Amino acid sequence: MSELNLILLGPPGAGKGTQAGRLSDDFGLPYIGTGDLLREHRREETELGREADSYMAKGQLVPDELVIAMILEKIADEGDDGFLLDGFPRTIGQADALGEEMDKRGRRLTAALLIEAPDEVVVERLSGRRQCSNGHLYHVSYDPPKHEGVCDQCGRPLTQRDDDRPEAIRERLAIYHDQTEPLKDYYDERGLLRRFDGTRDKVEVHDHIRATLATLRLEERL
Ligand code: AP5
Repeated sequence: MSELNLILLGPPGAGKGTQAGRLSDDFGLPYIGTGDLLREHRREETELGREADSYMAKGQLVPDELVIAMILEKIADEGDDGFLLDGFPRTIGQADALGEEMDKRGRRLTAALLIEAPDEVVVERLSGRRQCSNGHLYHVSYDPPKHEGVCDQCGRPLTQRDDDRPEAIRERLAIYHDQTEPLKDYYDERGLLRRFDGTRDKVEVHDHIRATLATLRLEERL
């Protein structure tokens, strides 16, 4: 297998960002996190950031044409030797656009890694999530920092995302079920879907994903 081109799928709060950091280190893959990129645009108040702002605060999807252009450009800039996509694609339109781009470049996806978690787990995780501006993640009950409100790793203040409020979480979940869940069948039909139980401990989820990727690499060599 010459390159790993991976997608992370799953509901908000399933642990995609948590696993993405580990997998990107394991395999030396550029991490392309759509939510992080959009939040950076919001902070810097770019035109895209201003357009995305109201959708994101309400927990709604940013329109396909904006997100597709942003991600394909990022893949062209940083993803020549493989990539790890977190939060893209999230609609069938985005998946088609990615597929067409990959075909055009003679490349193919390695796998779509689906991290699953039921709605009640998601709501609890997101309500307690805190993070610093460097993206280090904590949970007030399950993974608290040593000093309340301060990142253990970089000493920056921990804050709550504006879309981790109850009404925005409900909206994100509804949109996930309506628009993103159909991607399970989409990638399953293409033989690319691999499922992981996101309710397990994060180390176990990580081990399971690594083992699956190792098997895929072995199969490729047979
Ligand atoms: P985005 O930032 O991608 O948010 P999301 O998909 O809703 O995912 P989250 O970051 O909330 O959750 P996660 O699965 O990464 O979980 P995490 O690892 O943090 O998108 C935000 C917004 O941007 C969207 O709503 C939309 O507006 C816009 N957007 C993004 N992509 C788009 C697209 N393609 N098209 C259009 N719009 C787009 O973990 C959550 C918590 O749980 C943490 O506290 C963590 O410590 C804890 N945790 C993680 N794993 C475990 C575990 N195994 N056990 C116990 N606790 C755990």
